[in-house]
Amino acid sequence: MDGLTPDPVQLAGQEHFDAVLAKDSRVEPKDWMPDAYRRSLVRQISQHAHSEIIGMQPEANWITRAPSLKRKSILMAKVQDEAGHGLYLYSAAETLGTTRDEMMDALVAGKARYSSIFNYPTVTWADMGAIGWMVDGAAICNQVPLCRASYGPYGRAMVRVCKEESFHQRQGFEILLELANGTAEQRAMAQDAVNRWYAPSLMMFGPPDDDSPNSKQSMAWNIKRFSNDELRSRFVGMLVEQVKVLGLTLPDDQVRFNEESKTWEHGPLDWDEFKEVLAGRGPCNAQRLERRRTAHEEGAWVREAAVAYHQKQQDKQKAAA
Ligand SMILES: [Fe+2]
Ligand SMILES: [Fe+2]
Repeated sequence: MDGLTPDPVQLAGQEHFDAVLAKDSRVEPKDWMPDAYRRSLVRQISQHAHSEIIGMQPEANWITRAPSLKRKSILMAKVQDEAGHGLYLYSAAETLGTTRDEMMDALVAGKARYSSIFNYPTVTWADMGAIGWMVDGAAICNQVPLCRASYGPYGRAMVRVCKEESFHQRQGFEILLELANGTAEQRAMAQDAVNRWYAPSLMMFGPPDDDSPNSKQSMAWNIKRFSNDELRSRFVGMLVEQVKVLGLTLPDDQVRFNEESKTWEHGPLDWDEFKEVLAGRGPCNAQRLERRRTAHEEGAWVREAAVAYHQKQQDKQKAAA
């Protein structure tokens, strides 16, 4: 093409794409889509996949120290679910033409982003409760609307992911509930965990709307359905009610319902800290990446064995044909 004459394939593709979005229908892997839409989805889905995989670490850290066999088996199931979420999401991203190797290489090279929340340490057992209740809770608020994302494989992956996330949230809530009704020391431990995870979990929704460059386009493409601030406000409303059941408090005396805007408001968040953590300078960034790298290297023999097995099966089929 000379760049001046419109490409008829692209024109027809764009028209079809626009019609699909206008109907609020789904774009599928083989459909034509604008390059920017594809790039944006690869970025979002791969970051999401990395978050699930890196997110296994802060909790896996407590599997050997879980206070009972029941707690241990629940936590193991939860961490395994997160591995599954990562795998669905890598598969969804692969349908857009990027390979899992490329995504994994970017992650271990420290070039890919993942949710900043997983760079905070888990210092007590109560953190398992606060993570389940707040971090998985925030993930649900974010991901339920993504079940309707315009890209088919992403939206469908989210349906199952959300079902599992609600189990994660309940198990976390239940850990906190038990601690909050336990000894004074256990109760203090639960409150301390809620205090530490509150602000980072609110920041999981991303920067405020006026500082979120990709949001507008993402909403126009029917990927994102609500703005960061809308989702954050909804999440605060959920915490306010549930923390009463726990008999604990939120470390924020500015939480209030704004009758005019019908939204929940909260105190200021430290966005400089958010940016620092995202830039790789959070409390556990180096440790998380190092662990991921080691696991990747230690898993090389499994990948090689799978390739060798696949080759063997193909040779057998050829010989039989
Ligand atoms: Fe997950
Ligand atoms: Fe989860």
